[in-house]
Amino acid sequence: MTAADHDWLDLRAPFDDAAREHSLALLDQAVEALAGTAEAEPLTVIDIGAGTGNSARWFDRALRPRLPGRELRWILLDADAASLRVASRSMPDATTATAPITELPAIAAEHLPGATAAHESDGAAAEHAPGPPAPARLLITCSAVLDVLAPADVEAVVDTLTRFSGLGLFLLSITEHWPLDPPDRRDALIEHAFSEHQAREGRLGDAGGAVLAAAARRAGARVMTGDSPWDLQGPRDREFLTRFLSERIDAVIEEDPELRPIAAAWLADRLEQAGTDLRVAVEHLDVLVDARG
Ligand SMILES: C[S@@+](CC[C@H](N)C(=O)[O-])C[C@H]1O[C@@H](n2cnc3c(N)ncnc32)[C@H](O)[C@@H]1O
Repeated sequence: MTAADHDWLDLRAPFDDAAREHSLALLDQAVEALAGTAEAEPLTVIDIGAGTGNSARWFDRALRPRLPGRELRWILLDADAASLRVASRSMPDATTATAPITELPAIAAEHLPGATAAHESDGAAAEHAPGPPAPARLLITCSAVLDVLAPADVEAVVDTLTRFSGLGLFLLSITEHWPLDPPDRRDALIEHAFSEHQAREGRLGDAGGAVLAAAARRAGARVMTGDSPWDLQGPRDREFLTRFLSERIDAVIEEDPELRPIAAAWLADRLEQAGTDLRVAVEHLDVLVDARG
């Protein structure tokens, strides 16, 4: 697990916030499944891969006015203790858990005392009770995390959702699509090498969102998806484009050092365009999982 640079998380925060405006329709569907007769029960929200807290703060801002009167108990989970220390400063009431995502089932069990895990309940009767499913007591959130996960992490997330009949809202997962305008004949080569780099060391890479959605469907959960692209434009977003494109090229060269000359020339051209008319549409997949049975 590699911790994210805090200055990169800060630089991307306004672009993430703008992209998540597209995620609000999916968030509203999650809220429908969270509201109901059990409004008085606290809702435990676990932000996985919370980093310095930018995503949890966005979810908190979006959820509170939509769930008036419902207590939100935040747990920020990340393997990087330094990031969580920063997150705690702006969300002092949140509990932090410095742990890998594979520990999510145990962490959820610890914080949901009295919740009956579905697989421990009295089987068929509970699973096939008539009427709409009960409002969830558990919401798992994340933003910009699934690409760095391994299959075992996704298993832990889906297992937790099904065991605790929870909701999961997983936003801003990169896909393999980040088309640039104007196009360039070298784009496909660069994009392919970057995709390969994302999938290094068993990571899910740009398939992360799709892999999680498929695993949740296999587990019998309802799954809905949406898009939340970054719309990057030169010269307005030149500083961000410079960092974004330079880091992609660092990854490309790390993946295939023989591409260095072509990648460096591509970057020089693209950085010049970032000062004028370059546009990059970085596509993201959002996934909502409803595992209430
Ligand atoms: C790109 S950052 C996103 C941070 C935050 N969600 C945001 O939007 O600002 C990804 C975070 O996931 C954490 N992470 C990655 N793999 C992890 C794992 N297997 N277990 C726990 N945390 C992990 C990293 O430490 C990092 O803080």
